[in-house]
Amino acid sequence: LRVSAGLIEPDGGRLVELLVAEPLRGGKRREAVGLPRIKLSRIDLEWVHVLSEGWASPIKGFMRESEFLQTLHFSSLRLADGSVVNMSVPIVLDIDDAQKRRIGRDSNSTSFDGISIEIYKHPKEERIARTWGTTAPGLPYVDEAITNAGDWLIGGDLEVLEPIKYHDGLDRFRLSPAELREEFTKRNADAVFAFQLRNPVHNGHALLMTDTRRRLLEMGYKNPILLLHPLGGYTKADDVPLSWRMKQHEKVLEDGVLDPETTVVSIFPSPMHYAGPTEVQWHAKARINAGANFYIVGRDPAGMGHPIEKRDLYDADHGKKVLSMAPGLERLNILPFKVAAYDKTQGKMAFFDPSRAQDFIFISGTKMRKLARNKENPPKGFMCPGGWKVLVDYYDSLAVA
Ligand code: ADX
Repeated sequence: LRVSAGLIEPDGGRLVELLVAEPLRGGKRREAVGLPRIKLSRIDLEWVHVLSEGWASPIKGFMRESEFLQTLHFSSLRLADGSVVNMSVPIVLDIDDAQKRRIGRDSNSTSFDGISIEIYKHPKEERIARTWGTTAPGLPYVDEAITNAGDWLIGGDLEVLEPIKYHDGLDRFRLSPAELREEFTKRNADAVFAFQLRNPVHNGHALLMTDTRRRLLEMGYKNPILLLHPLGGYTKADDVPLSWRMKQHEKVLEDGVLDPETTVVSIFPSPMHYAGPTEVQWHAKARINAGANFYIVGRDPAGMGHPIEKRDLYDADHGKKVLSMAPGLERLNILPFKVAAYDKTQGKMAFFDPSRAQDFIFISGTKMRKLARNKENPPKGFMCPGGWKVLVDYYDSLAVA
């Protein structure tokens, strides 16, 4: 039963938007001058961006302790009306002892001009162990944003005085959930299927997306729209930077691997945790808020190699299994996919068939990067030539630098 042509409702029923209305900004800015300040890191600012546009709806600011604990222990939040929404990664702001003394005075719950905030302990080890399932040294987000973070977390409602911009030539691709919803409505989408990625698009990824479209048409949808949604926040050092990935994605559309008519390319402002099955829930939940009702998931989503052992950090099938059962994601249609690999007999990327395993080659991210760095070509049909050239150019630019 298709209820209406409308888009899926945001979590909590209403999209949270934390940007102060323009006429009020001057007054708020003057008020803010007298308040204690916290210097935000790049990752903190990315989270402010995420929060301000409602990707984490219904959360209205950095998490308070009750939200933090529910996130860590239940991967979900219970709302006032008893309903449950998914929330699997903590969105928190840390402060150190000196900042706590300055802000918190002697109480843990303080109010500034009507805005109540909460300061509570930052249980780093527990946060890391529960989010990543390991405290092994070398987890990129942990090294970058947690190990040297303050011992306290500060949470509460946020008022954002200015839209977050990066001035890197890519801001026009950073559509907010509200803007994406507008775009899908304008395009008359009767289904929106999201593809999260942090890597260049190879033809295995493309296979997942084109196969989804085919299935949705088969199901009777007339105008399914693809949200090609590269992650734009913090990524680890050896991932391909966003600006190069955007160039690569542009080529993939230009070369006709994906159809520009039915695809919206936009940037997801979240930083990357590399927390596998825990993080893929966040990736999916945020796309509900942007209007997606279908979510593609394949092999080892949000995964990486184990930082100190010679294996993947997560079971490559757990992401899609967990996503299909995750609390608070019942409204989202999860589209789980088998692993795609290069089929030598067909000379193209295809779904892996274990009964003839010898016909397939797996081209890992590491292998792909090595080929591009050495200016070698992958097997024909792995990636469109225009897209591959962007990668080669990227590694070239590194060699010069
Ligand atoms: S992720 O961190 O954003 O998940 P990546 O950009 O590598 O990483 O993957 C994007 C999506 O494509 C994820 O859903 C992932 O599971 C899927 N995927 C990546 N490579 C393959 C593959 N060879 N076969 C099937 N699915 C894949």
